[in-house]
Amino acid sequence: MSEKVIDVQDAWRERALIDDAKYQEMYAASVSDPETFWAEHGKRIDWSTPFTKVKETSFAPGNISIKWFEDGKTNVAVNCIDRHLETRGDQTAIIWEGDDPNESKHITYRQLHAEVGRMANVLRNRGVGKGDRVTLYLPMIPEAAYAMLACARLGAIHAIVFGGFSPDSLASRINGCGSKVVITADEGLRGGRKVPLKANVDEAIKRVEKDLVEHVIVVKRTGGDVAMEPGRDVYYHEAAEQVTDDCPAEQVEAEHPLFILYTSGSTGQPKGVVHTTGGYLVYASMTHQYVFDYHDGDVYWCTADVGWVTGHSYIVYGPLANGATTLMFEGIPTYPSNSRFWEVIDKHNVNIFYTAPTAIRSLMGGGEGPVKKTSRQSLRVLGSVGEPINPEAWDWYYNVVGERRCSIVDTWWQTETGGILITPLPGATKLKPGSATRPFFGVQPVMVDAEGKELEGKCEGNLCIKDSWPGQMRTVYGDHERFEQTYFSTYKNLYFTGDGARRDDDGYYWITGRVDDVINVSGHRMGTAEVESSLVAHPKVSEAAVVGYPHNLKGQGIYAYVTLNEGLEGDDALRKELVTWVRKDIGPIASPDLIQFAPGLPKTRSGKIMRRILRKIAEDDFGSLGDTSTLAEPAVVDDLIENRQNRG
Ligand code: PRX
Repeated sequence: MSEKVIDVQDAWRERALIDDAKYQEMYAASVSDPETFWAEHGKRIDWSTPFTKVKETSFAPGNISIKWFEDGKTNVAVNCIDRHLETRGDQTAIIWEGDDPNESKHITYRQLHAEVGRMANVLRNRGVGKGDRVTLYLPMIPEAAYAMLACARLGAIHAIVFGGFSPDSLASRINGCGSKVVITADEGLRGGRKVPLKANVDEAIKRVEKDLVEHVIVVKRTGGDVAMEPGRDVYYHEAAEQVTDDCPAEQVEAEHPLFILYTSGSTGQPKGVVHTTGGYLVYASMTHQYVFDYHDGDVYWCTADVGWVTGHSYIVYGPLANGATTLMFEGIPTYPSNSRFWEVIDKHNVNIFYTAPTAIRSLMGGGEGPVKKTSRQSLRVLGSVGEPINPEAWDWYYNVVGERRCSIVDTWWQTETGGILITPLPGATKLKPGSATRPFFGVQPVMVDAEGKELEGKCEGNLCIKDSWPGQMRTVYGDHERFEQTYFSTYKNLYFTGDGARRDDDGYYWITGRVDDVINVSGHRMGTAEVESSLVAHPKVSEAAVVGYPHNLKGQGIYAYVTLNEGLEGDDALRKELVTWVRKDIGPIASPDLIQFAPGLPKTRSGKIMRRILRKIAEDDFGSLGDTSTLAEPAVVDDLIENRQNRG
């Protein structure tokens, strides 16, 4: 690991909202007296009924309960739009950059107000009101932001499903949250290729509970030919003609759910992570302002998709609550060429850019040429999120992309945390390439060993968080017990992140990756259990075990050990068939990178698969397999080693 330290440059500090002394002071205040700290910062959003209670939270076994600003009432859309109209109605709220470099548009706050009001009325006309769930399966077009904010305006709860998920995955999410309305587009457009979104919705609906979905609203994006079911499906532009753009906002309790977002865990099917209104918005907006050192007039670009939490908190809610100009990009980093990111930065004078290590690594592969032919003079802050950033990629980001002028914020957080928890602040934090550095205000990281003993000082262990912060998820939709089981049962009275970390002498955190059965592929979370259950559903497969392994571009790749039914032989054709099967079943992000046919899997005598051994073999780390004598059939290990797939 690199131990290089990069000082805060004078230019960063001079411009920044806070310096190190101020960070220290605010951090100390935030953890010594969270009530007072958050009572003050809770006022950064507008409340129709001000809160008098600030923090009512418990991580105690049997009583996991998280409530912030509980007796206050507010509306997220009003905070993201209406309250800015007087001062910045004509300022651009959203810059939309299409897949095609010749297509872009600016949407002012006033226009956003009208668009969201209209979309809200279209939903209201179809019976959507407070507490109703609406599934969004949309490409990166402005209507995705309109739809999110329209739901928020009505007090409805959106559940976005990433456009890369399959009809099956979409169906289980629509069922899971009981959405009566789905908003989609005819087709998406990415890197010049069309994505059949409406056709996928049609497939999905065949698999959801009969008569659950009453309305499908279809935004016309490509104009492609799609089937429309009379009575159920309507084009958005036609429905929009029937309504006005004036829609009253429903003031909701601070703890009213804002959205559900499905995410993968160690076991079972994805969980519906529930985020609520008041605390979430306070936290998303505050982190957006401080972490990116956002100033009025800055142009800010986060390259995530709204299908992931990063898109929720740092394309839509955080920036818009701050009255920012946020850029929304429909395309991919390599289309039409791998200069695209940098060209977009020059085209729109982007000051703050936030992307994922996997994108940086893949662009790094193309050399400096495609970067150097652009100016990038507007850039000031560069952010990273989604997975550990390796020091080589960090250096390239800092030296080549930012030309040593820009500060880098390596932001660690999760779908569950709602916002960034560990991160540098541009004017305050010395940087170490590869370290997410220090906790944000109100966040108390705790390192524990496998037995749950709290570790002091420099150490390596499992990362937990002591005490709540306002952006924390509140429950798993419809299954509070699973919430407690997943996050609070491993270590008592602590939130367990599922990540391993090191803490160095300066108290800096270095996230080392997941310690559970979650794989992080190109910054996207995948549960090994999900991929396994897809593989065993194939008629030729009797058993499967899936683990992650280091992958140069993706961070982690998916390695699947597959046992076929008696008498069947595996070959490359079957490998291909299984990859296609999983892609179709879950989505392209779940595609196994390597498949090893294994006559037997290493199991304990009680029949439990020893994943530790499978992980080591996938990593080509045979020296440290540990004790294999407790296996029911120790010989299977030799076969697995002999026939391992070359990870190239
Ligand atoms: O393992 C950590 C990794 O991504 C996981 C969370 O994934 P997800 O819920 O999909 O949210 C991703 C975007 C917030 C974490 O448990 N992770 C995220 N950011 C970092 C990271 N690992 C190391 N460094 C990061 N900056």
